[in-house]
Amino acid sequence: MKICIIALLTILNLPSVTPQIIPVETDNTQLVLHVDSKGIVRTFHYGEKSDYPSQYLNFNTGRGSDYGDGPMTYPTVGGGFNGQAALHVKYADGNQNTELYYVSHDVASGDGVVTTTLHLKDHLTKLEVDLIYEAHQREDVMLMHSVIKNKGRKPLRLRSFASASLNLDSDRYLLTHTYGGWATEMQMDQTLLTHDVKVLESRRGTQATQAGNPSFMLSLDGTYSETSGPVVAGALAWSGNYRISFERDQSERLNVVSGINPFASEYPLKAGDTFTTPEMIYTFSSEGAGRASRNIHRWARKMGVWNGGEINPTLLNHWEGAYWNFTTETLLRMIDDAAEMGLEMFVLDDGWFAQDHPRNDEKAGLGDWEVNRNKLPEGVDYVASYAHSKGLKFGIWIEPEMVNPDSNLAKEHPEWVVQSPGREIYQQRCQWLLDLTNPKVQDFVFDVFDRTVSLSPNIDYVKWDSNRRVMSFGSPYLGEEQDRFYVEYVQGLYKVLDRIREKYPHIIVQCCSSGGNRVDYGSLRYFNEFWTSDNTDAISRIRIQWGTSLLYPACAMGSHVSAVPNHQTNNVTPLKFRFDLASSGRLGMELQPKNLTEEERSQSKRYISAYKQFRDLVFTGDLYRLASPYEGDFYALMYVSQDKRRAVVFNYCLDFQNHSIGGHVFRLQGLDPSLKYKVTELNVDKSCWWGNGDTFSGDFLSTGGFNPIFREANSSAIFLLESNE
Ligand code: GLA
Repeated sequence: MKICIIALLTILNLPSVTPQIIPVETDNTQLVLHVDSKGIVRTFHYGEKSDYPSQYLNFNTGRGSDYGDGPMTYPTVGGGFNGQAALHVKYADGNQNTELYYVSHDVASGDGVVTTTLHLKDHLTKLEVDLIYEAHQREDVMLMHSVIKNKGRKPLRLRSFASASLNLDSDRYLLTHTYGGWATEMQMDQTLLTHDVKVLESRRGTQATQAGNPSFMLSLDGTYSETSGPVVAGALAWSGNYRISFERDQSERLNVVSGINPFASEYPLKAGDTFTTPEMIYTFSSEGAGRASRNIHRWARKMGVWNGGEINPTLLNHWEGAYWNFTTETLLRMIDDAAEMGLEMFVLDDGWFAQDHPRNDEKAGLGDWEVNRNKLPEGVDYVASYAHSKGLKFGIWIEPEMVNPDSNLAKEHPEWVVQSPGREIYQQRCQWLLDLTNPKVQDFVFDVFDRTVSLSPNIDYVKWDSNRRVMSFGSPYLGEEQDRFYVEYVQGLYKVLDRIREKYPHIIVQCCSSGGNRVDYGSLRYFNEFWTSDNTDAISRIRIQWGTSLLYPACAMGSHVSAVPNHQTNNVTPLKFRFDLASSGRLGMELQPKNLTEEERSQSKRYISAYKQFRDLVFTGDLYRLASPYEGDFYALMYVSQDKRRAVVFNYCLDFQNHSIGGHVFRLQGLDPSLKYKVTELNVDKSCWWGNGDTFSGDFLSTGGFNPIFREANSSAIFLLESNE
């Protein structure tokens, strides 16, 4: 047999390879890669760590499947594989076969991360692919991506170019992912995967995450549980079109191929060129979805979010309080009110700019980033300095990737607009998209940020908005190379953001995109937080924030208290309920404070002050989801400090409760069973829990006794748990 293989390798001009196992490991998880004697790299396991990774090879013996001797780690179109491939290359002669073989691998480590790089090669075409695995030891997170190098003499085209392919082995796969639209982001969808292929994708270009999100959870025992069972969670760090396919074959294996969506993007690679794919972030949990979320959140706080885990200030955003209709006086009085209520920042939203085509509604002004002197005769610095004089930080809104047809910019640079020659350029929110593949546009967008923050030395925060998707797709700059558009738009955006972060590392930048359109780890590398949704109704926000919490950390989740009836939904909810919900993320207010009654103002003051007592837990604690809004009348969650000595519990009652029954039991999680915690309900005169103010063991609170009584829909409670031991 051995002689046969050597003879075959000689005919094919392939070097013979010593078979070996390459384990990629974190503290508790393991990916088992195997190189066979032909040099084919296969994935045999991703999950719990075993001391005997080689057992996974034996386990595989004799199992027939589409994968021959086992699932290839980075399957390509060509050779014997017919499934969803990670890589599909079209060479200059039209041939589309690629077969990758192991050449070598290296391992480097530092700062709690072990990086394993596998070097693979197609010996015939000289195409090289590096597979890179970053294993974050303590977080149990693995980042996977590929680097594709055209080492041949002729150009080629990449027809698909995934970041990673991950093969899993189970018999029931429950896929949890999100879907939505404007104001209804991050709604949960679940499906048991049948045989064949299920695809999550976006083709919207810039607004990638409102209709879906490039992330998911897979329960490998077919049941969603927060606390038990094997779960693989994944998220792609890319802010444009994505594609994640789940292919279940007849052997029950599941192959997950994830990366940039190759839709309309047959990407050209000249001889000598390299293409780097975005990172796919994976974690495995043997303790249900809750642990998977916590792993990813920990990684995100450490390196997935710009300055993740640092406390961002509470704020008043002027948007829902005044929209486009304000003067300097309006803003100054809002600042007074924000300071008086104990908020820490004021954000001037849309409407401050454009002189010739004033931004008084959505129809004009985008692109003309000079201060509108009719509205703000004293300028932005005057307002920002006033905020600082009141002890508040100051933030400002921009939407630099966009242009209104009614603007000077659209007239000066029609060639900067994304468009298809000879066709109507579709508008969305009366605006067009600028072509970020063009380096001149990249300079312009950088300059908008640069000039805006130079309006005043007192600008601490920028809200970066992006209110439309790609339509009339086409780049005047790219000419005949339109295949590069979708990829290079996002790369162009990242180039701008790289420059911004190099120059302005300390400015807090919020990623807003009609609300939650850019909630992805490609963006969050550059942004301190995201605007979760334009929907500020606490009732809607419960599901939106629950879905967001699956893969994204609370430290980055902007959550505001707004007026009633709510401007998006018309719902009316108590002020306390609105505060209690917004306090489970980065708290802000977004209303006209002068419309609050005296009582509401003093309540707001109290709630804001309480938030400051526990917000370190929201920003740095571990999340435990206690009750899902998809399963009953309650939503409950808690954050626990890393040393387990403090925790904050949020309870929300979504529907009327029958008075004859007692309180709903929430079993707390993440506490130290042996510690004693004093439980204090915040923001109330009369507590809804009989044990308020008393001290209980972590064991008691986790196994039985926590049962606050709620009677009404939209009632809520926040409990602070502190251990002095
Ligand atoms: C978008 C944002 C809002 C607000 C408006 C301003 O809709 O999501 O928060 O900034 O734009 O026009």
